[in-house]
Amino acid sequence: MTDRTFTLNTGAKIPALGLGTWQSAPGEVAAAVEYAVTHGYRLVDGAYCYGNEEEVGQGLKAAFAKGIKREDVFVVSKVWATYTTRVEEGLDKSLKSLGLDYVDLFLVHWPLLMNPNGNDDRFPKLPNGERDIIWDYKHPETWRQMEAVLATGKTKAIGVSNYSKKYLEELLPVAKVVPAVNQIENHPALPQQEIVDLCREKGIHVMAYSPFGSTGGPLFTAEPIVEIAAKYNVKPATILLSYHLARGATVLAKSVTADRIDANKTVVDLDAEDLKKLNDYSDQLTKEGKLQRFVYPPFGVPFGFPDKP
Ligand SMILES: NC(=O)c1ccc[n+]([C@@H]2O[C@H](COP(=O)([O-])OP(=O)(O)OC[C@H]3O[C@@H](n4cnc5c(N)ncnc54)[C@H](OP(=O)(O)O)[C@@H]3O)[C@@H](O)[C@H]2O)c1
Repeated sequence: MTDRTFTLNTGAKIPALGLGTWQSAPGEVAAAVEYAVTHGYRLVDGAYCYGNEEEVGQGLKAAFAKGIKREDVFVVSKVWATYTTRVEEGLDKSLKSLGLDYVDLFLVHWPLLMNPNGNDDRFPKLPNGERDIIWDYKHPETWRQMEAVLATGKTKAIGVSNYSKKYLEELLPVAKVVPAVNQIENHPALPQQEIVDLCREKGIHVMAYSPFGSTGGPLFTAEPIVEIAAKYNVKPATILLSYHLARGATVLAKSVTADRIDANKTVVDLDAEDLKKLNDYSDQLTKEGKLQRFVYPPFGVPFGFPDKP
């Protein structure tokens, strides 16, 4: 899948597959990035919040030293919630850690503001242990700043992450630049079809995160995934990745394990019968109220996702 791309509303190409780096431990992530990029991956997804961008940068640097060109790798970073009123400062920090002078895509990681003057740079807390959130923050204000950093050239495109349909509908009427991307949790157990449909209609490319259900890959054992994998004689991971290709989305697969990084380059072309089976599975989970959202930090903010009222 490493040679497949989609086109963003900026006109730039975005690879169909990216390497995720969330929870990739120190001492592992630089090697994983170097391995992936020197073995065909052309997109690396990172974030200030992951606390490992310096190592991601080391991995990129090592790959560049082996002849991979900077312009051939699509690098993604995200402004963290303590920086949503200081977007350029956040981007500058990420660039410095990554050792780059631009990223290809910069995203609003989550649409909220945590206290920029709180007791921690990433996860400030109140004395009672609750997260220190600024409740009267209005997320479109961050988008103004995103538009301003786009003009600096320090990022080639701007987008959002974890935006529900409700939040997109609040943002789009006031946005001068339509987000190039919405990066959301996406897999057959959380299809978020209403967001995907709105993104399609507005020309916003979907980047799917946690395709395996995040750490440990809990979706590998889901019944329809196992069945379709048996049909093609491939691993469940291949089906979970192929699902996004069929939906026209970029997919981010995290691994720090060389043979898995290699394996995740394999996809099959799912046919109408497979897609129906996966859609029926999604519909059934929706009907039973059993959708599975694996990544939902306990902010306590109502972000407008139907499964998280
Ligand atoms: N925007 C956001 O808020 C947000 C939130 C979550 C994630 N993301 C992005 O999306 C990326 C992917 O999501 P994720 O990290 O949550 O989870 P994921 O990619 O769904 O799953 C990662 C897990 O699957 C394992 N794995 C990977 N390939 C495998 C294979 N072929 N066979 C068996 N196991 C395999 C990994 O193990 P090993 O690493 O040990 O090999 C790891 O435990 C993140 O890393 C991050 O870049 C963004």
